Amino acid sequence: MRAGAPDPRRVRIYEVGPRDGLQNEAAIIPAAAKARFIQLLAAAGLREIEATSFVSPRAIPQLADAEDVLAAVGALPGVRLPVLVPNLRGLARAEAAGVDAIAVFTAATDAFTTKNIGMTIDASLAAFAPVLARAGDLGWWRRAYVSTAFGCPYTGRVEPQVAVDVAVRLQALGADEICFGDTIGVGVPDQVAELVALAEAAGVPVERQAYHFHDTRGTALANVAMGLAAGIRTFDSSTGGTGGCPYAPGAAGNLATEDLVYFLDASGWTHGVSLVGVLTAARSIADALGRPLASKVGQAGGWDPGTGAATGH
Ligand code: COA
Ligand code: ZN
Repeated sequence: MRAGAPDPRRVRIYEVGPRDGLQNEAAIIPAAAKARFIQLLAAAGLREIEATSFVSPRAIPQLADAEDVLAAVGALPGVRLPVLVPNLRGLARAEAAGVDAIAVFTAATDAFTTKNIGMTIDASLAAFAPVLARAGDLGWWRRAYVSTAFGCPYTGRVEPQVAVDVAVRLQALGADEICFGDTIGVGVPDQVAELVALAEAAGVPVERQAYHFHDTRGTALANVAMGLAAGIRTFDSSTGGTGGCPYAPGAAGNLATEDLVYFLDASGWTHGVSLVGVLTAARSIADALGRPLASKVGQAGGWDPGTGAATGH
């Protein structure tokens, strides 16, 4: 490889456990436990950790402590801690909390955005325009989610071009990265390949596309494999396999970070994340939630091909 050239086998793992993973949990988890989780994720080598949401506490009570969590996390040099922001009010809160990276979130169907944020897609884009502009003026990193990109719990199948059209509009508003979300975990690999290609043809390059799979029907890693083959290098995952949206009925957990790390390691991809470190973080959040780990690798451990033994228990 030429010095300075990007490593073609390098994958970015974008951790969403503290935000997507926890937002749907009914029992309120103390801010200190959330902060400890984030610190353990950073210690495991994760360099992008979506930390919390500056949304209406009425909409997402679990994340009403966003300021407290960030204050308790403190400085994590070299780690990007994006937060979810739905409006200028959220942006102002994020700015006061010292944030420098945000994610805005709309969807591929009006039915979902209306349940989730009380707006149509058009209205959400109008609301995000000043948010993305202001964040750009501040020099912040900006991600934009297109949720329900593979299917909607209210209207069913989503044509990939519809998700792509929303992505193009978000990119035009200044988003640095578009994340396509399989919010309810209905997608399969052929759909991933189609979406990647359509988005690229519409002017959203693979380097700006990220994918966010829920493992509701066991297709998440197969979808990652197809994404990798199609040139995608950024995937979301949630340590411990937690996750779900209160406005997406039936959505099971996100793809677990430990399952993704095992898969990437064994397939020869580099990412800088330690499986043992992720399992340590996973156990800390499972303890806080008071239930066993849901992920496959959380249950089985990793595997040492030198000895044949399971690791990380
Ligand atoms: N931070 C804190 N409070 C906020 C806020 C923010 N960013 N934005 C709005 N609020 C408060 C308002 O002050 C108001 O409070 P009140 O009822 O005590 O007066 C309440 O939230 C409702 O605000 P309103 O402007 O009327 O908006 P809304 O009720 O139409 O809600 C959203 C719109 C976008 C703010 C809300 O739906 C939301 O935060 N959704 C987030 C959903 C989410 O995170 N889903 C999971 C991610 S996929
Ligand atoms: Zn999700």
